Amino acid sequence: MTITKICCIGAGYVGGPTMAVIAKKNPNIKVTIVDINQERIDAWNDADVSKLPIYEPGLAEIVEETRGKNLFFSTEIDKAIDESEMIFISVNTPTKTYGKGKGMAADLKYVELCARNIAEVATTDKIVVEKSTLPVRTAQAIKSILHNTGSNVNFEILSNPEFLAEGTAIQDLLNPDRVLIGGESESAIESLANIYGSWVSQDRILRTNVWSSELSKLTANAFLAQRISSINAISELCEHTEADVSEVARAIGMDSRIGSKFLNASIGFGGSCFQKDILNLVYIARSYGLNAVADYWEQVIILNDHQKRRFSDNLISTLYNTVSGKKIAMLGWAFKKDTNDTRESAAIYVADHLLSEQAQIAVYDPKVSEKKTQADLNYLNTRSEEENKSLMTSFEDPYEATKDAHAIAIMTEWDEFKSYDWKKIYSQMKKPAFIFDGRNILNKDAMESIGFEYSSIGK
Ligand code: UDX
Ligand code: UDX
Repeated sequence: MTITKICCIGAGYVGGPTMAVIAKKNPNIKVTIVDINQERIDAWNDADVSKLPIYEPGLAEIVEETRGKNLFFSTEIDKAIDESEMIFISVNTPTKTYGKGKGMAADLKYVELCARNIAEVATTDKIVVEKSTLPVRTAQAIKSILHNTGSNVNFEILSNPEFLAEGTAIQDLLNPDRVLIGGESESAIESLANIYGSWVSQDRILRTNVWSSELSKLTANAFLAQRISSINAISELCEHTEADVSEVARAIGMDSRIGSKFLNASIGFGGSCFQKDILNLVYIARSYGLNAVADYWEQVIILNDHQKRRFSDNLISTLYNTVSGKKIAMLGWAFKKDTNDTRESAAIYVADHLLSEQAQIAVYDPKVSEKKTQADLNYLNTRSEEENKSLMTSFEDPYEATKDAHAIAIMTEWDEFKSYDWKKIYSQMKKPAFIFDGRNILNKDAMESIGFEYSSIGK
């Protein structure tokens, strides 16, 4: 089937950029992104593209180029579903916060709602594409819902997991290492392969069965996160020996079997995917009674939690075992640079721990608003909203945020942090002035020559 109209349910970090690139590369296909959240859709439609709900380098330009031509944002979900030949499901699948599998399993209620919605309103045949990361065999559930509607409409289900990383989403979409399509129907697979074929060479488009495709996504994220936990585990060992984790990472990374990417020791990984997907993998393994497998992957999360805690513990003990009443400036709140996304950011957990020790926190992040930092903290439910507000303040200017601080904690690897006037920052801080570089982005010698007490991860 040649596709002329696509609908994507979920205008989030995955749906938005993915559909923008599909629209750009397929000017003959009408792409409509729908969402239940009116505010989000209004932001996507804002004439001023700097107000888009998601910050991604290169995204605003593509939206500006395609919006109103073949890319549309709307809350008219039923209409968009019915007029499309292909529907992507890109809604969120958070970790369950209730009932069976609480804290581990993916909550599929939004995916199921989408499937039911599609089943209800479709009057013509559809190809339904799972874009959201889903537990293995979810396609079976979607299929069952779609096929039991009593209508004569035919549904084909494909799994097409997204591998983009935030901050580089547009580049990842434009030059993917591979595109993965899992499905039963060859013609449905080829319809989707043709859409990607507009800009991705066919040898990079992998065709698998649905289950392999679903499991590959979880496995890819688990392997990536495992590398970070592995190097972070070594970072702690480095701190107790004379080894330097950057040197170790470089030395092992030059072994082509290991490879050099994803070996940056850090304060711990964040983001919406790694933790959620591993918990999901662990849950699935346990549900099949595979406890050794489950324990193995769970350790990646345990180590990550340990790394975050270790960072704040170290900060507190270095500041003479008390941060009570002390101003700690946090540079960065996003879970990585070049994004305004803060989901599962290590900064949230470190801030919460420091606040429990009665620190005063000043936050500066170039892309994250105070509304978001407060909401992230309130979500943890450790203390009242009023208390959080009185203990933690956001600043628009890094020099203001760091003024009179006892210590600076670098939480996100934003490039701009490297080019600050660190002498000026030092002169305005309480002495001794400490820097805890959770991302290893500053130069130790340069910082020490200014006068800072500088510490980083794994050195
Ligand atoms: C989400 C999942 O987190 C990830 O696992 C999956 O791979 C892709 O989808 P993301 O795009 O980052 O990732 O999520 P989010 O930014 O929260 O966007 C989801 C959107 O779906 C939200 O805008 C939400 O309003 C919308 N939504 C949710 C619907 O339109 N309908 C629903 O029923 C539920
Ligand atoms: C990840 C996967 O990379 C992507 O393929 C998938 O589709 C979604 O999940 P994302 O979470 O957006 O993407 O960002 P990623 O670059 O993978 O970083 C995740 C976290 O790991 C960040 O907090 C980052 O700072 C951290 N990280 C990454 C490290 O601590 N060290 C590294 O070497 C790399």
